[in-house]
Amino acid sequence: MLKEMGRTSQDVVIILCLLMTVKAFEMEIVPANRIVAQIGETLTLTCNTTGCASPSFSWRTQMDNPLGGTVNNHKTYSTLIMNPVRVVNSHDYLCTVFCGEKDKKEKSIKVEIYSFPSDPVIEISPSLVSGELATVICKIPNVYPSDHLEVLLMKGEHVLFEKTFHEEVSTNVETKTVAYSFNLKADDIGKEITCVAKLPIADMDFEPKERVTSKKLNADFGPRNTNITASPGKYPMEGDPLKLTCVTESNPPAQIVWRKHLADESIQHLIENSTLFIPQVHFTDSGLYLCEVNNLVTNKTEKAAMNVAVQGAPKFTELSIEPSTTVQEGENVSIQCSADGNPPPKIILRRKSDGADTRPYSEGRILLPSVTFLSGGNYECVAKNKFGESESEITLNVEYGPRNTMISIIPAAVVKEGETVTMECTSSGNPAPLISWKKKESSGESEKIFKEATLTIQNIKIQDLGLYECEAYNKFGKEEKSVNLLVQGKLEGTDQMIPLIIAFSSAAATAVPVVAILIYLSRKAKINGSYSLVKALRLKV
Ligand SMILES: *[C@@H]1O[C@H](CO)[C@@H](O)[C@H](O)[C@H]1NC(C)=O
Ligand SMILES: *[C@@H]1O[C@H](CO)[C@@H](O)[C@H](O)[C@H]1NC(C)=O
Ligand SMILES: *[C@@H]1O[C@H](CO)[C@@H](O)[C@H](O)[C@H]1NC(C)=O
Repeated sequence: MLKEMGRTSQDVVIILCLLMTVKAFEMEIVPANRIVAQIGETLTLTCNTTGCASPSFSWRTQMDNPLGGTVNNHKTYSTLIMNPVRVVNSHDYLCTVFCGEKDKKEKSIKVEIYSFPSDPVIEISPSLVSGELATVICKIPNVYPSDHLEVLLMKGEHVLFEKTFHEEVSTNVETKTVAYSFNLKADDIGKEITCVAKLPIADMDFEPKERVTSKKLNADFGPRNTNITASPGKYPMEGDPLKLTCVTESNPPAQIVWRKHLADESIQHLIENSTLFIPQVHFTDSGLYLCEVNNLVTNKTEKAAMNVAVQGAPKFTELSIEPSTTVQEGENVSIQCSADGNPPPKIILRRKSDGADTRPYSEGRILLPSVTFLSGGNYECVAKNKFGESESEITLNVEYGPRNTMISIIPAAVVKEGETVTMECTSSGNPAPLISWKKKESSGESEKIFKEATLTIQNIKIQDLGLYECEAYNKFGKEEKSVNLLVQGKLEGTDQMIPLIIAFSSAAATAVPVVAILIYLSRKAKINGSYSLVKALRLKV
């Protein structure tokens, strides 16, 4: 058994040695047998030999059609290059090799041609509007052989249309077109139109054999159903954020413009954005908001409006006095108060500290024609609604010249020589008048003697008799009052001393001339018969 195996091995070795030494003449085509090439590409066929020192090559097609390529012969091989591959290259190619005179070998290769280079192209015409006829066109570029082409048009999952090109004769690459029209419905918008192109050639090996393109049905429509939503709502509280959103249905998306109607009937342009955001609303933000949407393709415009009313406690917008907080008597004065608030606040404007029976009293405006100093003082304004109450104050300052200037004398009755007399001068006015005292001298001149309201004369003597003038002064003028210290009588029966009874008479300084007082004095003296004016005057000297 072992011996038999040994012999077999020996035979194999001998055969191998023979092959290596003889080097038989062989040839092959690369690639072998069959090749599928796409039109436009480059295809190289190689005819290769072994075992022949100088082979000669020849390339042919069946029935001697043109080669449709370039032959390049090298020492042991030859190439046939098709650049680019064309329809005419669809042949069986035969390569024949001679080695010397007698030795001839040949092989053939089948070249198959196709063209399916790119995905279909979908066009939807022209610009779609719902309710109108839509046409879908699918183009399959540069197909070969197009008689194998199958095209499927789909809308969503639904097959719209199918077409094959079997009965057509295909001699070259062709761009095939499939068109289909249908009535566009509103719910078609957004669906996919799909074009499936197949080139199924069972015994040809290439990829892909199916190409697919999809496109959304994007009909132009709208704007429609435009409306405004408000967050948190159309009655926001003062100080809260407010977001107004304009919602609309439109394709292509509409341009949005926000506007607001102002109180003066004008319209304010706000923003061009679907959302209008106010971080903190104020009463002045109340009003009619308009959202205007415009689709440039359909050339349609739609508007929506919303009335926004900001709610909240009152806030003063005005508390003022016309013409000014400081006025002069006789001016026409108006005090006004106004407040924002929603619900609209109840406004009470009144004189302060007037108690329950407040007059004047008004809802926002007090008119004081030809104002007097009596109307001066503080005015308060109260604004109230269900969300709260606000209060504010303003002062009316009515200015006037000195008035009611009066002199009061203590003691009120007559005094005797040596006693003390106090004279006080008062006057009203705004600004408060400055008070000063003067004494009329015998020479007829007045001398300023005191700059305060109260003038005290102690140990009154005959020298102190005379006319005392009080002057009340402010920037609007002055008022004067005077008092006359004079002898009313003389106590009889004393020796050295001349006790006098001194009386007062007061008069407006300007109204009573000095001469009249002198006459009065002298007449008084004559009546009493005991006191001489001349003597009195002499005493002073
Ligand atoms: C020809 O065939 C030989 C042996 O198989 C190989 O080495 C050589 O690369 C081939 N030449 C071409 C051009 O294919
Ligand atoms: C849009 O409509 C207006 C009138 O409605 C017209 O004047 C205008 O020419 C239209 N524009 C386009 C682009 O169709
Ligand atoms: C105040 O109003 C009255 C009546 O309207 C007018 O006659 C008068 O001139 C006004 N006075 C002043 C100082 O404006």
